[in-house]
Amino acid sequence: MTTGRATPGSSTRTLPTVEDTEALGRELALNLGRGDLVILDGPLGAGKTALSRGIAAGLGVLGRVSSPTFVIAREHAPSGPGAPGMIHVDAYRLGGLPELDALDLDSDLEDSVVVVEWGEGIAERLTDRHLHVRLIRLPNSDVRTAEWEWRTGRSSPIRSRSSPS
Ligand SMILES: Nc1ncnc2c1ncn2[C@@H]1O[C@H](COP(=O)(O)OP(=O)(O)O)[C@@H](O)[C@H]1O
Ligand SMILES: [Mg+2]
Repeated sequence: MTTGRATPGSSTRTLPTVEDTEALGRELALNLGRGDLVILDGPLGAGKTALSRGIAAGLGVLGRVSSPTFVIAREHAPSGPGAPGMIHVDAYRLGGLPELDALDLDSDLEDSVVVVEWGEGIAERLTDRHLHVRLIRLPNSDVRTAEWEWRTGRSSPIRSRSSPS
């Protein structure tokens, strides 16, 4: 794995295997606690769920992490008193703000880390800052690259939900 910086404040890493992606998740979890929001961006199969699994392992939360596609949000209980839980959300099918609001993630954020796959362009409004992670899949290869940074503001600086790549 090689780690570098794309722009000031952002970090990049090459992830040759799924284990590397999970290891990055565990590492990112070292800097996460209750109230933190993580937005995962990247196409289908890029490794968003694999990274979420690593974050869950790093936080020590309970329950197997799998794709939440059919449930929209899955709650992982903390390992013990004082530890954060994790809410794992798949925003792909969320119609928009009313559906996001209906999940009541604001109250979850009080004692959990909230991780949102496909969250870019919609989930930023939940907090004043979030950890943005973009996973890119190289063609005809298992290799992924990750680029991550803490972003401030409650709206997406890059593009809106209506224009996914
Ligand atoms: N370097 C890698 N990082 C992440 N996943 C990888 C990697 N190489 C192969 N894979 C595989 O790609 C798939 C990624 O799936 P998943 O994490 O569900 O993606 P997403 O949630 O972004 O749709 C898994 O089957 C995983 O084993
Ligand atoms: Mg997924």
